[in-house]
Amino acid sequence: MGQRVSSKIMIEVERKKLLKLIIASTNSGKVKEFQSLLKDFSLDIKSQPEKLKVEETGANFIENARIKAMSAAAYTRELSLADDSGLCVEALSGAPGIYSARYADSDRERIKRLLSELSKYEDRHATFIAALCIASPSKGVLIEIQGQCEGLITAVPRGENGFGYDPIFEELETKMTFAEMNKDQKIKFGHRGKAFQELRPLLKKFISSLS
Ligand code: IMP
Repeated sequence: MGQRVSSKIMIEVERKKLLKLIIASTNSGKVKEFQSLLKDFSLDIKSQPEKLKVEETGANFIENARIKAMSAAAYTRELSLADDSGLCVEALSGAPGIYSARYADSDRERIKRLLSELSKYEDRHATFIAALCIASPSKGVLIEIQGQCEGLITAVPRGENGFGYDPIFEELETKMTFAEMNKDQKIKFGHRGKAFQELRPLLKKFISSLS
């Protein structure tokens, strides 16, 4: 009995030692991808408090990721990881770009608007971009990385997985839309996964510098 109580205390102590990482996002699709990407790190991962509202006033993806990570770190007093991402369509001069989330009111409406605006163009090339930033409440920005993925906008949506513009983005190498990929394929070929591969060793180094 006494032994069981003490091992329970030990587990609690171990749990408390885990470094907390806030995912600075309210987008459940992104949070799920980060939980998969971070699964081999010993971190206590939490998503951003719902009360925290951050205005994306940056001029590019990196600036917006920095604003989000710094705001979450200041609000929670914990290490925070933010992503700012979006779809840049060549024929539309890079739109919707940093305004991807604000392009319309729902994923369905955003896809409908994009397909309609692109209907008069032959060029369907597009790039998905993800900027990642890790910030600490005391040290500010620690890591900044940007990743990208090239593809084509399909004529009609394909696939059931993922979120956002996934059903209309056909990745160049696999010719699959992101919504036709499983979780591992999306991570391997996707912009967020590619950015995270570069961030991974830097995050590992930072965590080991703490011990
Ligand atoms: P923000 O980074 O929160 O400003 O929002 C980015 C927006 O870009 C999301 O709301 C989605 O509409 C879109 N987006 C970003 N990454 C992805 C992705 O991996 N798949 C599909 N849509 C994405």
